[in-house]
Amino acid sequence: MDGEFTGKEIYQDLFSPRGYLDTYYDPKKGILVTDGFLDFALRKLHEAFTTRGVKGEVLIDIGHGPTIYQDLSACESFKEIIGADYTDRNREYYEGALRNDPGTFDWTGVIKQVCEMEGKGTTVEEKREKLRNTVKRTVKCDVTKSKPLHPLVLPQVDCVMTLGCLECACKDLDTYRDVLKNISTLLKIGGHLIITEILNCTTYYLGGKWFSCLSLSEEFLRNAITEAGYAIIDLEVIPRPYDKDQYRLCDHDSSFFILARKVRDI
Ligand SMILES: C[S@@+](CC[C@H](N)C(=O)[O-])C[C@H]1O[C@@H](n2cnc3c(N)ncnc32)[C@H](O)[C@@H]1O
Repeated sequence: MDGEFTGKEIYQDLFSPRGYLDTYYDPKKGILVTDGFLDFALRKLHEAFTTRGVKGEVLIDIGHGPTIYQDLSACESFKEIIGADYTDRNREYYEGALRNDPGTFDWTGVIKQVCEMEGKGTTVEEKREKLRNTVKRTVKCDVTKSKPLHPLVLPQVDCVMTLGCLECACKDLDTYRDVLKNISTLLKIGGHLIITEILNCTTYYLGGKWFSCLSLSEEFLRNAITEAGYAIIDLEVIPRPYDKDQYRLCDHDSSFFILARKVRDI
């Protein structure tokens, strides 16, 4: 890794959906599985959409990449989810995963886990169908643009959610602050913002290629999100156990979740 910022065009050309899933979400050895991130994210999302009462008409999932785990709880509380990502390949893969196309990554264990957390007796097939019917479309999105969905214009939505995307899309902390403002234009006042990030990460590997990552701290995120016009409802950080081989591939030391309510435009 030469330390250079790998921007959106590199994602478009070189980010491998399957390479990412195999390295980070493999049920046995995926980095974000063994370090506890996936369980953490599923638990926090379940809480947000149940006990914390986050619900509404439309949620935008920004930078979904090839994963669908993040929408499994949300689809019970929103009438419509709009998927939004920069790369064509990730949007295509995500759509294929929603259809459960042959050969796509197998999310069955994760879907089962969410159904068990919800405790309503929903089967894996019912959950798949609910999710498929709730994600009505995917759109191209560039969070670094002041109008991230341009040329598409949408009414402001009830929830903007972005997991593991902004630390990849931003080259420095000033850009991160700007990107928070950009994605806020999509959200109603009173609506909810959900962000997860990995912290203190500089670089990560997948599919034969290193990608840069903006190193973020809890303190920076707390301040930046508050300054962007939000009241924090829930914030939790979990540490990552040390593992030499896994840290070599991705060097974050903890994971961060925040749920916040938009109180003003800035
Ligand atoms: C590490 S993946 C995260 C995937 C998934 N959300 C997860 O939780 O594992 C980062 C995602 O950010 C997207 N991305 C990178 N730059 C972006 C930009 N400028 N605007 C929107 N999405 C971007 C990439 O296409 C990729 O899907």
